[in-house]
Amino acid sequence: MLSVEDIEVRYGGITALHKVSIEVEEGETVLLIGANGAGKSSLINAVIGATQTCGGRIRFKGQDIGGLSADRRARAGIGYSPEGRKVFGTLSVADNVLSGAFGMGRRHQKEAFDWLSSVFPILAERAEQPAGQLSGGQQQIVAFARAMSSYPKLLLLDEPFLGLAPVWIQRISDAIREIQRRGTTILMTEQMARPALKLATRGYIMRGGEVRRSGSVADIGDAALVEEYL
Ligand SMILES: Nc1ncnc2c1ncn2[C@@H]1O[C@H](COP(=O)(O)OP(=O)(O)OP(=O)(O)O)[C@@H](O)[C@H]1O
Ligand SMILES: [Mg+2]
Repeated sequence: MLSVEDIEVRYGGITALHKVSIEVEEGETVLLIGANGAGKSSLINAVIGATQTCGGRIRFKGQDIGGLSADRRARAGIGYSPEGRKVFGTLSVADNVLSGAFGMGRRHQKEAFDWLSSVFPILAERAEQPAGQLSGGQQQIVAFARAMSSYPKLLLLDEPFLGLAPVWIQRISDAIREIQRRGTTILMTEQMARPALKLATRGYIMRGGEVRRSGSVADIGDAALVEEYL
């Protein structure tokens, strides 16, 4: 479904990604594991079109999307939940969720909100409340729902567990399983290997802007746990 081939990302003089290649097949949940500065967000941002790449190729469902705007990539079926959640603090929970389905029509928006509220009841309970008043875990649910409101084929999750208490890591894991059950393909980044490995089928270990290892969760699990402490 997603094929990233030999891409490079540079910020001024810093090369954040050195010829990185990854594959995500339909129905998989693939994990990008790595410490601070490994290049996880740079890779996710390159896929959604928020960061420029030099060289290489990014294909989604067989189509080269390297030349498409971020907006066109989203409409092609790529959903994104950013690191640090980044909800719109002063907007209501409902408006935050629906901002992910901007331009898709009232009917789609209502249907999407009803569906997401049935999966995550907190969205209906807090629909009118400013999202900034919610706890970190609750905001993560809002960020997921926003990313899911356009019914993406591929969902990119950048560090969904960042800064959350163990009870919320558990709840967010359940939410990710719910999204998996609906057939959504997922590419997620994490520094926290332990809970992330429980959700994934396959993974890549990144360090210093390169992929150091890849394989099934059984193959890379131990190395990923080591990486967590680097
Ligand atoms: N906008 C930017 N300008 C300059 N350098 C950047 C920028 N964004 C990232 N970098 C650098 O690129 C490298 C990779 O960063 P990136 O954010 O992709 O890593 P990460 O694996 O997501 O880290 P984290 O776990 O902290 O989120 C780091 O050296 C970082 O300092
Ligand atoms: Mg990051």
